[in-house]
This record gives sequence, structure tokens and C-alpha cells, in this order.
Amino acid sequence: TFDPRVRIGSLTMTNPVGVASGTFGYGSEYEQLIDLSSLGALYTKAVTLEPRPGNNIPRIVETPAGMLNSIGLANVGSRGFTREKYPYLRDLPCSVIVNLAGSYIEDYCQTLEYLEEHAPLAGYEVNLSCPNVKCGGMALGTDPAQVAEVTRELRKRTKKPLIIKLSPNVTDITSIAKAAEEAGADAVSCINTLVGMLIDTKHKRPLLSTGTGGLSGPAILPVGLAAVYRVSQAVSIPVIGLGGIMEADHAIQYLLAGASAIQVGTANFVDPSATARILEGITDYARREGLASIQDFHQFLGRKA
Ligand code: DOR
Repeated sequence: TFDPRVRIGSLTMTNPVGVASGTFGYGSEYEQLIDLSSLGALYTKAVTLEPRPGNNIPRIVETPAGMLNSIGLANVGSRGFTREKYPYLRDLPCSVIVNLAGSYIEDYCQTLEYLEEHAPLAGYEVNLSCPNVKCGGMALGTDPAQVAEVTRELRKRTKKPLIIKLSPNVTDITSIAKAAEEAGADAVSCINTLVGMLIDTKHKRPLLSTGTGGLSGPAILPVGLAAVYRVSQAVSIPVIGLGGIMEADHAIQYLLAGASAIQVGTANFVDPSATARILEGITDYARREGLASIQDFHQFLGRKA
């Protein structure tokens, strides 16, 4: 028999399949479409201290390679989240992880403190990797010293799971993952979107209002796998894999590469029941291969712990 449970810090998730931040709103958007109790974890759309309108439209483009977005962290802010989203999320039958974002280290700290007091949920995913804002986001997350500082400051303020979300837009993702681990992170998640661009040749202008954006979906699967594989060899904390998971085989590849859990993002837009299909595929594979737990997936490619 296969035990699908996963431990991240003090939290036990019922299974390894979560939905990626920004692709599932605040959960209620999907409640008519899927059984939310089947999710291992729900990662909310990013929450910042103050509400944000995000970037100008067009800010989403669909391509055969996947989706290009430059949303720019549009969200209701910490008080709006507490008032409008928290009462619903609090009662959901799955682990709800808040994705935290900000422009400065101080914003992350204030937002976390506010949510700890007014909207406590299962844990935090710290977004240090948004490619669509000038201040904060990727600018913080590509510098190991700043990643360590944010992580250390947030660690002082919560005992709940702290998951640091990493950017693929770096030359050495392992040094950033190690900085997060040393500063007290419970896990890292990788990857956020890969910087990309498309151009309208007729009008000779970028398809996104911001010029460039973040690419998700099928094209980034190998990029995410390589990141998870390399990070898993470098750290002992759990690695949560995402990037281009459209079907169970992709998720299984992430688990073999060293991931302890995975997130499904762009696939939710294509097929809202993708997560159920993927969990079933993982379970069938584990049974067929005689794997008793998620850790058993790690023996083949030599994960560090
Ligand atoms: O691709 C992304 N888009 N990654 C993020 O972290 C945030 C999001 C946005 O709001 O732009």
C-alpha cells in the first residue's frame, strides 16, 4: 500500500498534489468544478500588505508553449484578504498556504504579522520570484543574501511552515535554495515562471503591455525538472516541484527528480480536474512500482535526504 502523505515542517499534507499560486484564485472559483478535499494543498493568489491593481492589460497571452503572464501581483491586499477570502478558506477541507509577496523585506514581515493575527491558515509560501514587478519579487529572490534575510526575519515571526518560492531566472539556483535552508526555511518551491516575450509582428509591439512576462506551461517542464533535481541534491529540506505539470507522468518525473510534493498551475486552466487525474496517476504508479511513500521515489536519482 502507498501512503501519499507529505510532511512540510509541522504540517502534514494528505497527498503531494497542490494547486499553484495564481492559478486557482482563492479557491471558491473552483468549488463547483472539483472536490477541494482531494487537494494536498491550495496555494492562494499572492497577498501583499496593500491592495494592488496589477499591470495594464493585455497581461495574459496563450501560446502553444504555454501561458505568458504579467499580472503584476494584482490582489485584494492583507485586509481585503482577511475580510473577503479568509472566512471561506478557513473552513476548507485541505491545507491552505498563503502566498506572500511584497516590495521590501519589511512588507513581507508586516503582511505575515498581520495574517498571523487576523487570518491564520496552514502556512506560507514566500514569493521571492515574481518576474512582473520592478520592486521586490525576483529582484529579492535572485540575491542569496536577501533571500537569507527575508527568510530569517519571517522565521522569527512564525512557527508555521515557511516555503520559499524560487525563480528559474538565475544562474545558480542551488546557492539560493541553500541560503533559504540555512536561514530556517521549511521547504523551497521551484520554479516560478521563466521570463519570456512574444511580439505582434503586424503592429510591431510586444503582446504584453509590460514587454516581457513569465512563461508557464509545457515549455518549462524540463527547466523545472532540472531545477528540482539540482536543488534536491543541494538541500535536506523538502523541495516542492512545479512548472509545466500537465499530466501524471510529469508529476512523477518531479517526484523522481527529488520533489516531495508538486503543484499544478497552468493545467488548471485547461482542465479543472487535472489535479485528481494526476493524483490517481501517481498512486497507480506507486502501487505498480511497489513504492510505499513519497520518499521511496527519491531512491533512484539520489536525492540528498
Ligand atoms: O508569473 C507570475 N505571475 N509569477 C508570480 O510570482 C506572480 C504573477 C503575477 O502576479 O505577475
